Amino acid sequence: NSVFQGRSFLAEKDFTPAELQYLIDFGLHLKHLAHHNIFPHYLTGLNIALLFEKASTRTRAAFTTAAIELGAHPEYLGTNDIQLGSKESIEDTAIVLGRMFDGIEFRGFKQSDVNELAKYSGVPVWNGLTDDWHPTQMIADFMTIKENFGHLHGLKLAYVGDGRNNVAKSLLITGSMLGVEVHIITPKELQPPADVIQLAYQLAQPTKVQPVISDNLTVGVKNANIIYTDVWVSMGETDWQERVALLKPYQVNMELLELTQNTSEKLIFLHCLPAFHDTNTEYGATVNADYGITAMEVTDEVFRSKYARQWQQAENRKHAIKAIMAATLGNLFIPKVPDL
Ligand code: CP
Ligand code: NVA
Repeated sequence: NSVFQGRSFLAEKDFTPAELQYLIDFGLHLKHLAHHNIFPHYLTGLNIALLFEKASTRTRAAFTTAAIELGAHPEYLGTNDIQLGSKESIEDTAIVLGRMFDGIEFRGFKQSDVNELAKYSGVPVWNGLTDDWHPTQMIADFMTIKENFGHLHGLKLAYVGDGRNNVAKSLLITGSMLGVEVHIITPKELQPPADVIQLAYQLAQPTKVQPVISDNLTVGVKNANIIYTDVWVSMGETDWQERVALLKPYQVNMELLELTQNTSEKLIFLHCLPAFHDTNTEYGATVNADYGITAMEVTDEVFRSKYARQWQQAENRKHAIKAIMAATLGNLFIPKVPDL
C-alpha cells in the first residue's frame, strides 16, 4: 500500500531524498502521537527478530520498545545464543528466520551479511549498524536537526573526528542527499574512502550543496549549525594508540565551539552515543590510566552544555525506528504526514 511496503532498510543510498524526508517526518509524527499516549498498532500480531553481533543500548532498546508500541512481538537473538556465522551460514539462517518472523533487524560487522539476510529471508531487514552504515541513526539525527531548526536544506553540519567510521560515512551520504552541507573534519589518514566521497558528491549535485572533506578545523567548523562527533575507536577496532595521537587535536571542546563563531541558539551539538566524555566508566578509567586523558571525542563541559542535544537525539532513535518498521511492514495505511 505504499512505496515502502516490503522493502529492506539497508543503506541510505537505496532510498530517494523524498523517501528519507518522508521517514523523518513520519518519525516526528509518531513521536508527537507517542507524547500524547497514542500508539497506532501498525504491526499488530507480527514477530520481529533482533539480531545482534555487537553490543547495543539504544538500538536494541529502541527496536524493542518500538516493536511493542506498534503491537508486534520482538525477540532478541544475540550471536552467542544462536548458530549464526559459526555453525550455520547467513543464507540458511535467513531462510529459517524468514519463515518464522515478519521482519528482521541486524547489527553486525559486514554490510554483505545484512544484504544477504535481506536477499534470502524474504522479509524486510533493517540495518541496525554495520561497519559501513548506520541508517536508522540517520533518520533520528535528521529528525533532531529538523526539530531544532525547522528545516534541513542549507544548514552546515561539521562532523569532527574519525572520518572513516559508519556514522561519518552515513552523515556524509544522508546530508548530501538532503541538502545539508556536511563537512568531515578529520586527519588525512582517517578520511572516508574515495568511493564514498565520490558518491556523496554525486548525490549532492541536485541539491546544489557541496560536501567538504578537510583536515582544517578552523575553516571546517566556521559558521557550523551542527557540531557532530562520534567515538574515536569504533566497535571491533583496537588501534587506540594511533587514534588518540591522530585525533587529539580534533576533540570537541569549548575552544572548538568558539571557532564556529556561532555560539548562539543557532548552534547544537550531536553525538550518536555512547560517548567518552569523562572517566566515570570502567572504559573511561582504563583509557585515562593508559593515555592520561579524561575525555576523548568530547569534553564533559560540551556534553553538559546548552548546545547539547544528544538525549533528544537518542530518544528519536525509537520514533525513527517505528517509522521505518511501520512504513516497510505496516498492515495499516501510513498517513500523509500532517504539518507539525
Ligand atoms: N547510537 C547507537 O547506535 O547506540 P547503541 O550502540 O547503544 O545502540
Ligand atoms: N562508530 C560507532 C557507533 C556506535 C553507535 C561504532 O561503530 O562503534
